[in-house]
Amino acid sequence: MKKIVIAIDGYSACGKSTTAKLVAGILGYRYIDTGAMYRAVTLFFLDHHVSLTNPKEIARALAQINISFKVNSKNVTETYLNGLNVEGEIRKMRISEHVSNVSTIKEVRAAMVEQQRRLGKEKAVVMDGRDIGTVVFPHAELKMFMTADVLVRAIRRQRELMERKQLVDLDEVIDNILQRDKIDTTRAESPLQQADDALVMDTTHITIDEQVDEVIRLALARS
Ligand code: C5P
Repeated sequence: MKKIVIAIDGYSACGKSTTAKLVAGILGYRYIDTGAMYRAVTLFFLDHHVSLTNPKEIARALAQINISFKVNSKNVTETYLNGLNVEGEIRKMRISEHVSNVSTIKEVRAAMVEQQRRLGKEKAVVMDGRDIGTVVFPHAELKMFMTADVLVRAIRRQRELMERKQLVDLDEVIDNILQRDKIDTTRAESPLQQADDALVMDTTHITIDEQVDEVIRLALARS
């Protein structure tokens, strides 16, 4: 069977990564969470007080950042920043509040896109993010564009945060999602937009199992 690239883009908290992870597991593909990469950069920038308007500081910081992924004993992929497991840290609200601003920076995007292309060059990869089907892999064999009602997205995200023992007010989650959507769709550098050949999936009223089944069906038809 032919190995393909599956690009899953869309708005924040639509179920992209949950779907991507499960699809990758079923197909035996590698899963790459590109949002985690931007989150890891944000963690480094915050911890090292990197100015988002100083190109020299940004370049120096990027040269010191090494992001990798490792699969743990429970078969869950976790994000590492300079050899340290940052999976828990990067999901916190303090990162969610800054990540979209950091992601507007051209140099940051160039560094991440280069690494993402390397990670996907052998194909057999499911990559989720905002610009995978438009910029990172414009020739991906399957492109999905996910969207959902904002309240449904916020409730799902709040539940995920609760599972990580973080209690966040629903209004705060809604504000964060809307603010990130706004920055992500209006930025100058590779804004979030649907690729012409992407298939739209509205996840408001469908279950994760249904999302996964549909992506698998489409992937098999292209493999
Ligand atoms: O996917 P996740 O919500 O974790 O992504 C966090 C943020 O990273 C997004 O809101 C967006 O600003 C940025 N991002 C991006 N390009 C990607 C993936 C994520 O700009 N490919």
